[in-house]
Amino acid sequence: IPVEVFDLVIFGATGDLARRKILPGLYRRFLSGQITGESRIIGAARSEMDRAGFRELVAKAIAEFVAKDRQDPAVIAEFLDRLDYVSIDASKGEDGWHQLKEMMRPDVVRAFYFSVAPALFGELAEKLHSHEIANSDSRIVVEKPFGRDLGSARALNTVLASHFEERQIYRIDHYLGKETVQNLMAVRFANILFEPLWNSQFIDHVQITVAETVGVEGRGSYYDKSGAMRDMVQNHLMQLLCLIAMEPPYHFDPNAVRDEKLKVIRALQPVPAEDIVRGQYLPFKGAPGYLEDSENPESRTESYIALKVHIANWRWKGTPFYLRTGKKLRARASEIAITFKEPPHSIFDDAAGWRENVLVIRLQPDEGMNLTVMIKEPGPGGMRLMQVPLDMSFADALGPEVSDIPDAYERLIMDVIRGNQTLFMRGDEVEAAWAWTDPIIEGWESRGDRPRGYDQGSSGPEDALMLMHRDGRRWREIKE
Ligand code: BG6
Repeated sequence: IPVEVFDLVIFGATGDLARRKILPGLYRRFLSGQITGESRIIGAARSEMDRAGFRELVAKAIAEFVAKDRQDPAVIAEFLDRLDYVSIDASKGEDGWHQLKEMMRPDVVRAFYFSVAPALFGELAEKLHSHEIANSDSRIVVEKPFGRDLGSARALNTVLASHFEERQIYRIDHYLGKETVQNLMAVRFANILFEPLWNSQFIDHVQITVAETVGVEGRGSYYDKSGAMRDMVQNHLMQLLCLIAMEPPYHFDPNAVRDEKLKVIRALQPVPAEDIVRGQYLPFKGAPGYLEDSENPESRTESYIALKVHIANWRWKGTPFYLRTGKKLRARASEIAITFKEPPHSIFDDAAGWRENVLVIRLQPDEGMNLTVMIKEPGPGGMRLMQVPLDMSFADALGPEVSDIPDAYERLIMDVIRGNQTLFMRGDEVEAAWAWTDPIIEGWESRGDRPRGYDQGSSGPEDALMLMHRDGRRWREIKE
């Protein structure tokens, strides 16, 4: 379904995120017919460049980041025709703002994407307001990192709130735009099968894994000030945890969903030091280790973290959530695994071989769901049990249409135009997430905690295995 006609201004339009994700994503939505011909995309950045120069830059981004079979020269030309550019240096002066104002059209949706350093958010918001470029229906989209602790997140919220209302502010967490992540809500709340079992009476534990094979890849100076806790856990893994743990919202409505997520975050228990393992990848056969990649030989920042989290409420009391994420691991694999408890009484001999039911929701690669169930091993050999998967790969089940599934960014940008905030973080939610994260990080700092080394291509530090073993549980293997 096509979205309304819009003027989308991307601040930081020549930056990495814009070139890799935002602009190629907009092209793909244009190709699929969701963006109609009258809509326009206006790049804004410091570089002195004319419209033709910007179009050239976008053409290159499409050539590099859009799949070859979706690069249609005629459609690309039409798309490039929708683009304009204005040179603005948000940190100084008034240059460019009047020009931008003149480019805005009445009666179309106006959206402003802040794909710039958070230090500039305040300045941009102020200028959009003082030049009357934004109106009461305009939306702003802000990227992570949304602060680095509770204090800085509050300060950002305050700055934005002085010029925009909460209903106009779209804080992106791109994990919420992933197809399977939304499917989690469909699976939980559109089926009767799972919800009655979805609590600590029937669920033994939950594992959330986001494993990456990449290292910090030239982002060392940002990453070293963040680490896996701030870069991944406070936002992406936290959002996954919320969608698994939240109560059913009364309606699939932005505030109803976000209210329920907020309750989960507020119920998170503080995590004691012994329930956390931090790691740093070591050099390997000439490949630099984290200390070299981050260009900080003294760094105590973690490129891996595993932690055991408890949610203090009626539904989850006694069911731990084990979270882990890291860089330079064995495989790129993100999944949520929900392990159910034993049946209350077994009528079969121990020798029959019982294994637990596990529901695995794969985020990437190969999105899908898998539920393991016990059946009788076929054949005449008496009652022996075996575990079989009820497997559903979305690509297999849905066929070729699945290839038109928008990637996370495209979907989220279209939601901004539609004015739907369901998949965006509300200010209080982000603050609550930092309020839980801060004491954990402060604990490391006050103890002078050092991450353990781990081998590149492994599944993380040995100690992370112990985190599970001592509870009589095991991590699932990290594999594609
Ligand atoms: C980003 C982090 O938010 O998410 C990166 O800053 C990380 O460090 C990335 O690599 C992972 O996203 P995805 O979609 O590739 O899983």
